[in-house]
Amino acid sequence: MKKRSFLLAIACTAGMGAAHVGAAGVGAPAPIIIKFSHVVATDTPKGKAADFFARRAGELTRGRVRVDVYPNSRLYKDKEEMEALQLGAVQMLAPSLSKFAQLGVREFEVFDLPYLFDSFAELHKVTQGAAGKSLLAKLEAKGITGLAYWDNGLKSFSANRPLHKPADFKGLKMRIQSSKVLDAQMRALGAIPQVMAFSEVYQALQTGVVDGTENPHSNLYTQKMYEVQKHMTLSNHGYLGYAVVVNKKFWDGLPADLRQQLGQAMEEATKVANEDAKKDNDDALAKVIASGKTTVHTPTEAEKMAMKKALVPVHREMSGRIGEDTIELIYRETGFDPAKL
Ligand code: LMR
Repeated sequence: MKKRSFLLAIACTAGMGAAHVGAAGVGAPAPIIIKFSHVVATDTPKGKAADFFARRAGELTRGRVRVDVYPNSRLYKDKEEMEALQLGAVQMLAPSLSKFAQLGVREFEVFDLPYLFDSFAELHKVTQGAAGKSLLAKLEAKGITGLAYWDNGLKSFSANRPLHKPADFKGLKMRIQSSKVLDAQMRALGAIPQVMAFSEVYQALQTGVVDGTENPHSNLYTQKMYEVQKHMTLSNHGYLGYAVVVNKKFWDGLPADLRQQLGQAMEEATKVANEDAKKDNDDALAKVIASGKTTVHTPTEAEKMAMKKALVPVHREMSGRIGEDTIELIYRETGFDPAKL
């Protein structure tokens, strides 16, 4: 079977399992179904926000729209879900920002630049301001409409050896998302980056296909990666967040009143996502520490500086790919000054 028909076939099969009596009740017209696929566990910032959105969408549209959430790569893995969205086999996704360059919108990789954001306040100036909007607008040409940015959090490095200084990464095979900036980041540390779908990471770490990875704590915890990683460093070296996106044709074809109600549900879900993400990650870290399976290292100031010195040159290295304008724009919004290191 060709790949496209395969994607459509799984989408139809998955849809068939769902109950189809809408909240509007028996006799009411069948609801419009939004399939919302994602790759993380339900008990994560994205998982919870997706479920919240589904509930509010049902309430605000009085059952005229039903959102079926498919978590944990149950329906599609990373790369497939992007293709499925463009084909209309699913209507909604929230991929991490690192995964949009594969559509040809390389500017999104700006969010992967190491140490770009010092705080969520700085980050939100971008995601909740004009720069964030203009990035989402670039997706329209790909048949995708961007609705919102949802936070996850800052990433920590993990492996089976302590990772205190750049030299500790030498020769390690590190799983990354499909981003050239993340590739350059790992190479700058002397590691060997390996792009891999999120759903495959636990097993790859367990069997030694890769040695380590980077994650916000909610992902590290809910995917049980900490059980197969002896060491973790609270490096906060990069951000992982999401863009919630819909198939443009589907979205534009909705009646205006439903689009408005779904827009409101999305606004509420975004507030919940961005308010709860930090606490979810803090709770996940506390559980990892309590498990005793992973030694958690907090870097000293000198260690932080050594990592920054190794990684910030990646900004320059990647400026041709991401675009000088985009990088400068984000620097202006956040006040980041590479010369101040
Ligand atoms: C990853 O692939 O590591 C993340 O993008 C997963 C996610 O959606 O948080």
